[in-house]
Amino acid sequence: SKTYKIAIIPGDGTGPEVIKEGIKIIETAAKKNDFKLDFTDYDLGGQRYLKTGEILPESVIEEFKKFDAMYLGAIGHPDVKPGILEKGILLKLRFELDQYINLRPVKLYPNVETPLKDKKPEDIDMVIVRENTEGLYTGAGGFLKKDTPQEVAIQESINTRFGIERCIRYAFKLTQNRAKNNKLTLCGKTNVLTYASDLWQRTFNAVAKEYPQLKSDYVNVDATCMWFVKNPEWFDVVVTDNLFGDIITDLAAMIQGGMGVAAGGNINPEGVSMFEPMGGSAPKYTGLNIINPIASINAGAMMLEKIGESKAAKDIDNAVIKALESGKIKSMSAGKMGLSTTEVGDLIASFI
Ligand code: IPM
Ligand code: MN
Repeated sequence: SKTYKIAIIPGDGTGPEVIKEGIKIIETAAKKNDFKLDFTDYDLGGQRYLKTGEILPESVIEEFKKFDAMYLGAIGHPDVKPGILEKGILLKLRFELDQYINLRPVKLYPNVETPLKDKKPEDIDMVIVRENTEGLYTGAGGFLKKDTPQEVAIQESINTRFGIERCIRYAFKLTQNRAKNNKLTLCGKTNVLTYASDLWQRTFNAVAKEYPQLKSDYVNVDATCMWFVKNPEWFDVVVTDNLFGDIITDLAAMIQGGMGVAAGGNINPEGVSMFEPMGGSAPKYTGLNIINPIASINAGAMMLEKIGESKAAKDIDNAVIKALESGKIKSMSAGKMGLSTTEVGDLIASFI
């Protein structure tokens, strides 16, 4: 049977706890579907940085390229200044490994509470495709007249035709392969960002011609936020730039039931991809065995899908749904689940 090499980055805070449950589930699915997973642990994150001063050695980035996928718990530490770990680890990995898609499925599962009144699982089922290597995230810019009253901060958004086009092509392909097989929405700000959003729109319109069977439309980012809350059923796949994507995916995570269930993938379709729960390191819950592992488990399923084990991914998705339908998990929030982190993992495993 086939063996896949997986790099594990448990990371900080509750990262190791949720990754442990994720591993439990993907191992169970692997056994059932007759393939093997070979894990290698990497100690990266705030904890490691505080101890050793090391953030992310270049040699480790090179090592990651040899894996079939990467599985990340969380990076973030309250004692480390904001920006250091984000730029030094997470964004660095995305850029260096050219993980140019940030893929965020947004699906309301049965028995999961959404803050949106009267919205059901069939109303909240979309995927957000966020460009993951350009826009306002490249770090381009600088200060003028630093530390004077006339100081100016310039933060530049870099948008290349190449970067936009590969992202939009990915989104169209994904739309075509979805069960809904319906519509791709471009989210931007053409009424103000007359260079960046204009290039996005021209590229979108050009690629759309190759997919005449799919619907495509455009919504401004502010209106997108509004419609996510009012009419989420209008959306199927949404494609957008890096910062807009960062913002609307947090909003989307909330309407699908919160950070306890939201998973994401940093995808390089031709290379190594990294999968993670969206929730962050949640330091205050560390070591209590009360954090929700479902997001991490969902990220594990996305990872198996990416390496080509679609049946195993589907098995996990079905098991998550059955576990939720059982009514034994009372809430998606840490400490309110009615079960511990490990018990939720065991329950889901029992349905595989
Ligand atoms: C995310 C996170 C990151 C981002 C941070 C931690 C740098 O919020 O994955 O959405 O802004 O991309
Ligand atoms: Mn974010």
